[in-house]
Amino acid sequence: MTKKIRAFAPATIANLCCGFDILGVAVEQPGDEVEVTLTEETGIRLVNIVGDGGRLPREANRNTCTVAIESYLRTIDQTDVGVEVTLFKNLPLGSGMGSSAASAVAGLVAVNHLFGNPLTKLELLPHAMEAERIACGSAHADNVAPSLLGGFVLVRDYHPLDAVPVPTELQLFVGLVHPHIEVKTADSRMVLRPTVSLRDAIAQNGNVAGLILGLTTADVNLVGRSLKDVFAEPYRADFIPGFHQAKATALQAGALGCGISGSGPTLFVLATSEELAQRATREIKKVFQSHQLSSDLFVSKVNRQGAQVIN
Ligand code: HSE
Repeated sequence: MTKKIRAFAPATIANLCCGFDILGVAVEQPGDEVEVTLTEETGIRLVNIVGDGGRLPREANRNTCTVAIESYLRTIDQTDVGVEVTLFKNLPLGSGMGSSAASAVAGLVAVNHLFGNPLTKLELLPHAMEAERIACGSAHADNVAPSLLGGFVLVRDYHPLDAVPVPTELQLFVGLVHPHIEVKTADSRMVLRPTVSLRDAIAQNGNVAGLILGLTTADVNLVGRSLKDVFAEPYRADFIPGFHQAKATALQAGALGCGISGSGPTLFVLATSEELAQRATREIKKVFQSHQLSSDLFVSKVNRQGAQVIN
């Protein structure tokens, strides 16, 4: 059996505006990497985290990566093995780019490979969701599912879990603008309303259906018209200085749509070309600058493979 495996898991844009907790898409870059080594000594040890500035928990039962691995090992009945884990943290914390999800997913893909892939990627999903529960108190799947599977993914139901890849022939580009502020997912879930009006439910349903139909029939205009959110954006926008102006300028610059990536504060754009994605993200950056906020830009294609072993 191979003793050491390293895997990569991409950042993700959860919600995609209208799909609160049920839609997400993976990007090519950036992403987290995890190296898992089988050892003689029983137990899971998080031996090193590189790149988090010492901010993530080092205890195996508190870090999303090792929590997911522990849940996986219980399922495949390998609780007396020894596993050492090193996490290479490239994604910013509290950014809305699926940072906790990517660590969990990379760890799961690596450890599953070490044991000869007894579980499919879909079967890894519940273990990654356990990690999300540790991270923010809610076991949502709209980051972990696309990070694992790649592409656009619909979480059709949670009880029981039914995650379905959304096929599309569109070659879309995604841009992420990460302003240098941190918003905890737990905090940005707290501002949401526990109930929605029938009027808002109708609007949101129409847009989710439109987005799925637009993707599957390669209708970019329909995709663009459907990137709207009445559930979360109205309440979360206040966490992000200049949000409305940034969104408006991104759309003027030619983005198909723009919204809050996951629980924010990162903004995402979807665009039909790399150039348009670059232009829209640069415009958003300027708006953040005018609010004395520096930011990082990431532009890439939609990632179609999801998490992968890299050596
Ligand atoms: N759907 C989740 C939320 C994603 O918006 O709270 C968190 O990254």
